[in-house]
Amino acid sequence: MSFSAIVVAAGSGLRAGAGVPKAWRHLGGRAVARWSLETLAAAGASPLLVVVAEDMRVEAETALSGLSGITLVPGGATRAASVQAGLAGLGDAPDDHRVLIHDAARPFLTRAHVERLLVGLEGGQGAILALPLADTLKRNDEAHLATPSREGLWRAQTPQAFRLAALKRGYEAWDFSVEPTDDAQVVTNTGGKVALVAGDPMLFKLTYPEDFVMAEQLAGGARQVRTGMGYDAHRWGPGDAVWLCGVSIDHDQTLIGHSDADAGLHALTDALLGALGAGDIGEHFPPSDPQWRGASSDRFLAHAAGLVRARGGQIVNVDVTLICERPKIRPHRDAMRARVAEILAVKEDQVSVKATTTEGMGFTGRQEGLAAQAIATIEQPR
Ligand code: CTP
Ligand code: MG
Repeated sequence: MSFSAIVVAAGSGLRAGAGVPKAWRHLGGRAVARWSLETLAAAGASPLLVVVAEDMRVEAETALSGLSGITLVPGGATRAASVQAGLAGLGDAPDDHRVLIHDAARPFLTRAHVERLLVGLEGGQGAILALPLADTLKRNDEAHLATPSREGLWRAQTPQAFRLAALKRGYEAWDFSVEPTDDAQVVTNTGGKVALVAGDPMLFKLTYPEDFVMAEQLAGGARQVRTGMGYDAHRWGPGDAVWLCGVSIDHDQTLIGHSDADAGLHALTDALLGALGAGDIGEHFPPSDPQWRGASSDRFLAHAAGLVRARGGQIVNVDVTLICERPKIRPHRDAMRARVAEILAVKEDQVSVKATTTEGMGFTGRQEGLAAQAIATIEQPR
């Protein structure tokens, strides 16, 4: 059954300091808001609305580029106003439609949290993730230090899941002389039944500067670095130009192959596929398939880079070595780096192209063919 999600990200993050609102600060190489949005998108939230301050819209678009199915909605002056802006942006849906409200400032959301909430919502108007209090409570009264009971007290987190009509009714009835601090409060205020489901300490909200220190450590653990290698060789034959690392070089021979025989790009494509554990270039682009005859190899490489991004990963760096006696690679090296960087949509300093001869030895030394090897390092969610 379908559900929508509203992620509120329009706050200014004053308590966290650092100038940039916390949803758009970087955490482990991605914007804070992007972390939970990737999870919600993968869990099937649709529509998926992100409530954004008007002056952060451009930053938000950049930070969320490549994530499909997201709609930006202008935020309000308070969290509750931002949630209401999101609700207005949802448009019409049946009364029992399920909607998740989430703080962008809680990045470590998983599919398991979402599934738990949706189960908790069955038969009620709301379900929230909550944790029992573990620490002893103190109230610092002027006269003495009081120790209130923590019996029956819970810490409420987000996402919080609701039936659309119950949430709308709650907000319509709320008297804004006091700001609600979460959405469950407005639903229970109108008699809505809200269930508690098991929360998670990992879902903590980034509020103070020290929360970012902890989050950076957790973000490192949530990503993994992977490496792959690739190798390719093609035979020399009659011709007057050769494609190497996406650049055409005038030469008295060409490389023979089913596609454009760009061994550099083929080795690099295999290195990326290797890092992903996603098979090899022959599986993705079978030589038996006529559509790849004479194909420009930049398509193969762009495809592999797209697979990295589709997993929420990114390319750290790549390194290609061309092995041949001729042509001389040095004069073309910068153009090759620039072209590979362009195909991969990374910066040039993430790309290296090198060349070596084998001093007359072996098939490359005898100039029967050219070989290329490549290594690629990527990082992706664990
Ligand atoms: N939020 C919002 N619109 C507002 C205020 C808050 O969308 N006018 C969002 C924040 O972006 C955040 C969530 O509500 O994802 C929880 O709020 P909070 O932790 O208070 O964030 P900020 O208001 O940004 O931080 P601060 O209160 O420290 O300024
Ligand atoms: Mg706030």
